[in-house]
Amino acid sequence: MTLNNESTRKLTGAIELLLESSSRINEAKPRRYWYPLSLASYGVEEIVEALDSLCSFRTTMWEKTLQFERQFASYQDCSDGVMVNSGSSADLLLCFLLTNPYHPLLSNGDEILIPVVTWPTQIWSAMMAGLKVRFVDVDPKTLNIDIDDLEKKITPATKAIFLVHLMGNPCDMDRIMAIAKAHNLLIIEDCCEALGAEWDGIKVGNFGVAASYSFFFSHHMTTMEGGMIACSNQEVAEQLKILRAHGWVRNVDPTNYDLNNYDIDSRYAFVNWGFNVRPTDVQASFGLHQLQKLPQFNQRRIELANKFFKFIDAELYLSRPKSSPKASPSWFALPLLVSLDAPFSRKEITNYLELKGVETRPIVAGNIAKHPVAKIFAEFNEDTYVGADIVHQQGFYLGLSPFHSDEDIVKLIDCIQGFLKRY
Ligand SMILES: Cc1ncc(COP(=O)(O)O)c(C=O)c1O
Repeated sequence: MTLNNESTRKLTGAIELLLESSSRINEAKPRRYWYPLSLASYGVEEIVEALDSLCSFRTTMWEKTLQFERQFASYQDCSDGVMVNSGSSADLLLCFLLTNPYHPLLSNGDEILIPVVTWPTQIWSAMMAGLKVRFVDVDPKTLNIDIDDLEKKITPATKAIFLVHLMGNPCDMDRIMAIAKAHNLLIIEDCCEALGAEWDGIKVGNFGVAASYSFFFSHHMTTMEGGMIACSNQEVAEQLKILRAHGWVRNVDPTNYDLNNYDIDSRYAFVNWGFNVRPTDVQASFGLHQLQKLPQFNQRRIELANKFFKFIDAELYLSRPKSSPKASPSWFALPLLVSLDAPFSRKEITNYLELKGVETRPIVAGNIAKHPVAKIFAEFNEDTYVGADIVHQQGFYLGLSPFHSDEDIVKLIDCIQGFLKRY
């Protein structure tokens, strides 16, 4: 912080006033949803820290980003964090790391296995990086990759698995690691919905080469937009930093690259291809404070989800994802499946909830092979996905925010009971 105590105190007072008046204005507006998908999780500390960056003219990637990266790595129990401007950019760099021309771990055209129910940028990233995506079905009971189908999809060309711990429910890492070992497959993990989740006491994201995280508004913590790649390998982190910023050596140790042997100005030295997906220090300002609040946020998410799931577990026609006893989920939202023998459809219950002021969403893209994009790419049409079709037709989710009250969950349960008692 470059702001002194006096200016911080005055700013804090002014921001509190602003937040108070904006919440009064918002409360006076008619609201479509009393139970929205997400609620703001940042406050005065994040705003003052961001203003500090603006007032000190340190807005682009600078010391706060470095500090946030170090603190995130420490939270994640790994050695390196590389912050980027979104979770999608984190997925993109993860995949380009694999086919990185400077030091490729895989070759163009190698097969990578990806579950067919996920956020689509996970898939686009692998395709754009030149890998051949083979889709794996999901298990509707967990929403995660169907491990029997995963085993079936392995061919001599398969070189990697790109996992996702959907909705914060960890995949069965014992089985997956055993399969990866047996077939010599690299693992990368999309943890964009699973920050803080653990498998057998180990945080997800620590099982493969590296892992991605998203800090979008509704996620476990937010930097407005933003993302991170975490890993425990300095060389990997260095390659990611080069890919993050133009293929430039600026944020890494230039002595690794024999720059003296080239007729170039070492301040502008390019050693690889790359993007510009750098974050700003304004985003990192949010990250520093949100990370401190993350353990309480996650604890509260779990408390609220458990309360809600206790009700769901006693219901006949609705179910929620099952977790292994070895898993400690870090719920991203409240995902539900309407049972196949229910006397009502997913559409009927979600329409009812929407009318009653409860915001709903499908389980991300559902079966991505059912989207218009599947017409463009052959890989979408190589198989059928029975589990993903169930999630696609029967699944939906409700929001989960640490700022929802216990009373909100009681009201939500009452609302759902109001629908179920018709049957
Ligand atoms: C599983 C998963 N991967 C990747 C992303 C992309 O993150 P972002 O929205 O920050 O680009 C998301 C976003 O919600 C996600 O849920």
